[in-house]
Amino acid sequence: MKIIVAADYDEMSKLAANHVAQWVRQNPKAVLGLPTGGTPLGMYRNLIEMHRGSNLSFKDVTTFNLDEYVGLEPHHSNSYRYYMYENFFKHIDVQEHNVNIPDGTAEDLEQECIHYEDKIRNAGGIDLMVLGLGNNGHIGFNEPSDRFPATTHVTKLDESTVQANARFFERIDQVPRYSITIGIGSIMRCRRILLLASGKAKARAISAALEGPVTPSLPASILQFHPDVTVILDAEAASKLTNAV
Ligand code: GLP
Repeated sequence: MKIIVAADYDEMSKLAANHVAQWVRQNPKAVLGLPTGGTPLGMYRNLIEMHRGSNLSFKDVTTFNLDEYVGLEPHHSNSYRYYMYENFFKHIDVQEHNVNIPDGTAEDLEQECIHYEDKIRNAGGIDLMVLGLGNNGHIGFNEPSDRFPATTHVTKLDESTVQANARFFERIDQVPRYSITIGIGSIMRCRRILLLASGKAKARAISAALEGPVTPSLPASILQFHPDVTVILDAEAASKLTNAV
């Protein structure tokens, strides 16, 4: 595991964008796993700038988003599909048919999960998965639990996650309680992982994930067992690490 500590959010975002861009330049047909949330917004902004200013193309890139709320229509301004188009996809040259986001409005959600997992497999697996981190150590929407879920599944959000995500909604009762998320097994099958975290609120989860025991009660801790993980943190998120580089 390689841990890089950036001075602040802007530097973390630039380093993250460079990491992704380098991989896409070397592998124009890369399959990327992508997160939502506040953390990757700066990375997406930098990638858009590189697309506009320095020929970075996503024309042949395939993307798989990590998760989606259950019950929000795709055009709902809080759906992750809407977020991805607004903050990234509509500004770059990725092709619509190469974009994959779980459908949280599918009539048969179990079938949607199986279908999503099949699509990842048919694409040859994910080359580079970018992850954010929940304050409680979740990755995607894999919440603290007594087991590591293997594949894409429907999950109930932790009360703390509902509270954390309420900032994007007008009222807390509008935050969906369920989501579809890629599973921990699916994340572990990705060839490379880039984990990003920023701010004091993530410091405890980062130190537990990177330096604590591997346990499903802190899902991100499983990344200690992945052979190719890069972690990019800002100084605040790294502040509780004892062995930060
Ligand atoms: C959300 C998403 C995660 C994201 C995390 C952190 O609930 N499902 O994929 O990484 O929370 O979000 P933020 O970056 O806003 O702190």
